[in-house]
Amino acid sequence: MLNTKLEFAKTVVQKAGVFIKQHLSDDLEISEKTHFDDLVTNLDREVQDQILTQIQSTFPGDSVLAEENDVRHDISDGNVWVLDPIDGTTNFIVQRDNFAVMLAYYEAGVGKIGVILDVMNDNLYWGDGTSAYKNETQIHLTVKPLRQSLIGVNTYMYRTNAGGLLDLSHESLGVRAIGSAGIEYVNILDGKIWGYFSNLSPWDYAAGAVLIAPFGYVTQQIDGSPLAFEGRQMMMSVPSDQLDKIKAYLK
Ligand code: IPD
Ligand code: CA
Ligand code: CA
Ligand code: CA
Repeated sequence: MLNTKLEFAKTVVQKAGVFIKQHLSDDLEISEKTHFDDLVTNLDREVQDQILTQIQSTFPGDSVLAEENDVRHDISDGNVWVLDPIDGTTNFIVQRDNFAVMLAYYEAGVGKIGVILDVMNDNLYWGDGTSAYKNETQIHLTVKPLRQSLIGVNTYMYRTNAGGLLDLSHESLGVRAIGSAGIEYVNILDGKIWGYFSNLSPWDYAAGAVLIAPFGYVTQQIDGSPLAFEGRQMMMSVPSDQLDKIKAYLK
């Protein structure tokens, strides 16, 4: 069944990517959610509706936790799909680049499937928590020490030194902030960044956490406690064998 669900997830996410690309030149309907910089477009909602419909008709016993339109199911309760229809909506609006479609599948709170599509580069990252692939090629990742690496950050957390992130960054070659959690996660998988520190909701990290787990990465709150999979949390996705070093800097 998990294989069927993995193939399903890859297919619906790829179809969503094709749909978004077909509508790339459209005039977008853009609305503010909570603030002028918290935006949603008609395409975010259309992609979510399309994927939601496919999940509900193919796996009617499963539940969904998704970003738009208050689709909220407790991730620890049964079989739950976690969907971010367009991650990096601001990038999508302003750049038409650096955004992703993300879909994950959890059973009783345990990540079983993660899929991230880097839409503009046509790269599909997928995995089951034990291995991960970029398109048809299995990913083999050797994590370098922090002093030879870059860190992906959320700009607010970086500039306010939240949890000591600014202090930790002095042990690295520098920081980068892309504005899409999904693209940050695929950059970890591509070996472009060593880890990612951000203030995220469950749909922002659900797929990424599954995809990077085979390479010894842990995704947890910045204070070391487990993710709650509800609300926004300051969190980090980092190599677990370097946690001691990280803890020496993080408060
Ligand atoms: C956002 C992006 C961004 C992160 C924000 C998220 P959205 O997701 O992942 O990188 O800093 O916290 O909300 O709203 O564009 O799907
Ligand atoms: Ca959003
Ligand atoms: Ca997101
Ligand atoms: Ca989104």
